[in-house]
Amino acid sequence: MLSMVRLGASGRQTGRRTVATVVSGNKTSKLVRERLKQEVQQMKQQVPGFRPGLVVLQVGDREDSNLYISMKLKAAAQIGISANHVRLPKTATEEEVLDNIESINQNPSVHGLIVQLPLDSVHPMDTEIVTNTVAPQKDVDGLTCINAGMLSRGNLGSCFIPCTPNGCMTLIRSTGVSVAGKHAVVIGRSKIVGAPMHDLLLWNHATVTSCHSKTQDLPEQVGRADILVVGAGKAEMVRGEWVKEGSVVIDCGINHIPDDTKDSGMRVVGDIHYQSANQRAAFITPVPGGVGPMTVAMLMENTVQSAWRFLQQQKLLSGR
Ligand code: GUN
Repeated sequence: MLSMVRLGASGRQTGRRTVATVVSGNKTSKLVRERLKQEVQQMKQQVPGFRPGLVVLQVGDREDSNLYISMKLKAAAQIGISANHVRLPKTATEEEVLDNIESINQNPSVHGLIVQLPLDSVHPMDTEIVTNTVAPQKDVDGLTCINAGMLSRGNLGSCFIPCTPNGCMTLIRSTGVSVAGKHAVVIGRSKIVGAPMHDLLLWNHATVTSCHSKTQDLPEQVGRADILVVGAGKAEMVRGEWVKEGSVVIDCGINHIPDDTKDSGMRVVGDIHYQSANQRAAFITPVPGGVGPMTVAMLMENTVQSAWRFLQQQKLLSGR
């Protein structure tokens, strides 16, 4: 039936329907990593022997964290960043964790320091205190109050922007859809995804609505979103029927659900029901291969940026 055909500004027509254009984090992150590799080479030419340095501090031994850290270390090695994985046992006390952070803060060859979250400790540990002990000028996760405060005030050029929201923003830009004046809806208000995503969209001049577990009319809010970013941590909670026709849909979720057809018995899905949302959106990120690889690429971007700032402060650069 011809009336069922939706002709949007973008998308691919398959049979009777138009499906959304896939926004590939794999492709975009590769471009970012290639650019960063060149930047690191430029640094080495200008300051012989210099390499940006990154430390990933891990407390405990969570399997998911081990996987994420291995991806970060691999990306760093490909770009030419010197990355170190500092592992503390589950039995480490908060004081030991803070001592380690303070000692890394003092190390001039480290330009970026992240504490992998969540902390996997047998002792009670205040994540807020731990993340805030990282020196703001090395806080390439953008999680300290200093960096979060600068972002909330719109000082985007001075702060480190958290990696997942920064990756989402890069993917939104890659669609060519302008953010200014659009209605953006963010689901989730975590310190690492939802809250900074709200700020980033706001200071890119969107009108932003933040939704969370107490929001009462989620489908209606989603239906108003020209740009929808979901970081809720609930498998396929956003249904395609809620999604506004022609919108940009960004899924930060990584959830494992049972799937008998897989050898592992599990399948990875996002927070959005992809197969229905892609019938309405103009652009959509896949899971996996969407936001995930961008988070890693943006960590590398922040680390390289931190290294440039360090070289500038040390007056080791001529023309930058
Ligand atoms: N755990 C899951 N994602 C992240 C991240 O972006 N940064 C840190 N530090 N921990 C995480």
